[in-house]
Amino acid sequence: IVTRNLDEHYKMMQQIYNGCEIVMGNLEISQMEHSRNLSFLQSIREVTGYILIGLNQFTRLPLPNLRVIRGTTLYKGHYALAVVLNYQRDGQYGLRELGLTHLTEILEGGVSIFENKFLSYAPQVNWQDIVRDPAAKVVISDNGPQSDQHGLEFVTLLLSLSVTKTVCAPQCNGRCFGRSPSECCHIECAGGCNGPLDTDCFACKNFNNSGSCVPQCPQTLIYNMHTFKLELNPNAKYQYGSICVAQCPTNFVVDGSSCVSSCPSGKKEVEESGMKKCKPCEGLCPKDCSGTGGKKGQTVDANNIDSFINCTTIQGSLHFLVTGIKGDSYKKVPALDPEKLKIFRTVREITGTSVYFLSIQSWPESMSDLSVFSNLQTIQGRKLYRGYSLLVMRIPSLTSLGLRSLRIINEGSVYISENKKLCYHDTINWTRIFNSRSRPQRRQKHIEIKNNRPQGQCAAEGHVCDPMCSSDGCWGPGPNQCLSCKNFSRGGTCVPQCMFLTGERREFATPEGECMPCHSECAVQEGKLTCIGPGADECVACASLQDGPHCVSSCPEGVMGGEGIIFKYPSKQRRCEPCHSNCTKG
Ligand SMILES: *[C@@H]1O[C@H](CO)[C@@H](O)[C@H](O)[C@H]1NC(C)=O
Ligand SMILES: *[C@@H]1O[C@H](CO)[C@@H](O)[C@H](O)[C@H]1NC(C)=O
Ligand SMILES: *[C@@H]1O[C@H](CO)[C@@H](O)[C@H](O)[C@H]1NC(C)=O
Ligand SMILES: *[C@@H]1O[C@H](CO)[C@@H](O)[C@H](O)[C@H]1NC(C)=O
Repeated sequence: IVTRNLDEHYKMMQQIYNGCEIVMGNLEISQMEHSRNLSFLQSIREVTGYILIGLNQFTRLPLPNLRVIRGTTLYKGHYALAVVLNYQRDGQYGLRELGLTHLTEILEGGVSIFENKFLSYAPQVNWQDIVRDPAAKVVISDNGPQSDQHGLEFVTLLLSLSVTKTVCAPQCNGRCFGRSPSECCHIECAGGCNGPLDTDCFACKNFNNSGSCVPQCPQTLIYNMHTFKLELNPNAKYQYGSICVAQCPTNFVVDGSSCVSSCPSGKKEVEESGMKKCKPCEGLCPKDCSGTGGKKGQTVDANNIDSFINCTTIQGSLHFLVTGIKGDSYKKVPALDPEKLKIFRTVREITGTSVYFLSIQSWPESMSDLSVFSNLQTIQGRKLYRGYSLLVMRIPSLTSLGLRSLRIINEGSVYISENKKLCYHDTINWTRIFNSRSRPQRRQKHIEIKNNRPQGQCAAEGHVCDPMCSSDGCWGPGPNQCLSCKNFSRGGTCVPQCMFLTGERREFATPEGECMPCHSECAVQEGKLTCIGPGADECVACASLQDGPHCVSSCPEGVMGGEGIIFKYPSKQRRCEPCHSNCTKG
């Protein structure tokens, strides 16, 4: 961060880092004059990214308690620590001492220290003891008078007190607190230790769980020996940088076992039992878009259609007028490519606080239905005192509405008129669409459907609902346009039967009549049902193994349980049985 106003810059740094112990990200200290009081940096023990110190005039680095630089991001792709150009031009002030007396570990990346005119001691630091990656670059050049040598130097003399790696016994896996083989640090330590335990570390290689260094935080799922299932661990903790926390800090959300500032793509934020979590989206992640009117103009047209890409909810109305579909030579808007209307396939809801409205007053001649809205489920919002929520008029090419997913309209009127070829609309039980979920005391809804193709003519030409549709009607021809099904449905298409007894993949039916696949661990049965529900504990028989009531592909091996790690083995009866408690590896 380099701002013109050095006072503001200093104050901002002070605000950000005062009292801070662990910097999540990079620490950049720049343009500090020699007279600044930098004591607010004293508390910093760890930096997860890199440290850049450049263009400063102070005498000694203000990081006396820094132990570890993790280097999860590196300066210029190589350096976890970069100290450059720290001296006053034409003056006497500048960096003379590194003073990083507690720095004992750089987990990733190297060190770059150059052009610090007054700095003399940098090369005498035993960087090999600090930098973990033997291949990392250590570049030290063009500093003060005594530092005329380039590259890595070995003078253990000056800093031998803090050396924690190169003096260790070969048995130690890295750091030690003495030269004897019994004085190794715990394997989870970083930067050294003052004893052999995972609680004696200066810093943790992986995670700090209430003072103990651990390879992972207490997991979110543990195996319950009584229900034979992985269940939420009430004592779970989440990774927040290098710390295990019981709750993510404000403005952070739980993603798997970590705290993140925002959910990754393909996941959305949900609140579950008082905790904000990232959950995978089913299909597209929700995206709200404004409708027409306002900035976008009166109608969907060639200029604004791309603003509807990936929208799942329209806040407001969608109008289709002739100036949008056919173009507007006066405003120099070209005609809309009918293919582009398929963008609206992602829309699931039209809603709003004052208007929410689908209005079709012009439509491409090549299109005989509104199936670009085949995923639109609801037109609903708050406060639509008068007016329409669905209007389709004077579209000569229209033979069916094709709004196969539309199930709820909670306010306003429906107006469908003067569509000379339109059939099917009068088979629809509109009462059902209005009644679902809307409150009963709501004002009267008006349905005005007139001067479309007479029903008699439609029927005479066979434009009638598929026989598998129920009496609620349909949006168009075929078994996938029914409002509801006479028998069963699968993925929105009516079917006479689920695959109860036939087919490679067997099914069961939900109480609503939806055919759903049995769990993949169920053994396919001949002449009888394969399962009674979706779960692995609802199979009639298991395809491979059984753990308690659940069909599984393998027995739990090394999973975290309430009282330690659990191992099971498959018995002759192909059931998972617990190994003896003295077994540690299965
Ligand atoms: C620097 O600031 C700290 C805390 O704000 C204060 O305790 C300390 O006395 C200051 N040091 C100097 C030299 O002004
Ligand atoms: C672990 O965290 C605790 C509490 O924040 C802290 O007191 C302790 O010094 C940390 N230990 C290590 C090794 O970082
Ligand atoms: C739309 O979503 C797809 C799939 O998630 C993505 O690849 C694409 O970049 C998105 N396009 C826009 C314009 O948002
Ligand atoms: C339409 O649906 C409503 C509510 O579900 C129901 O009461 C009514 O009988 C249905 N009308 C017809 C003609 O099926």
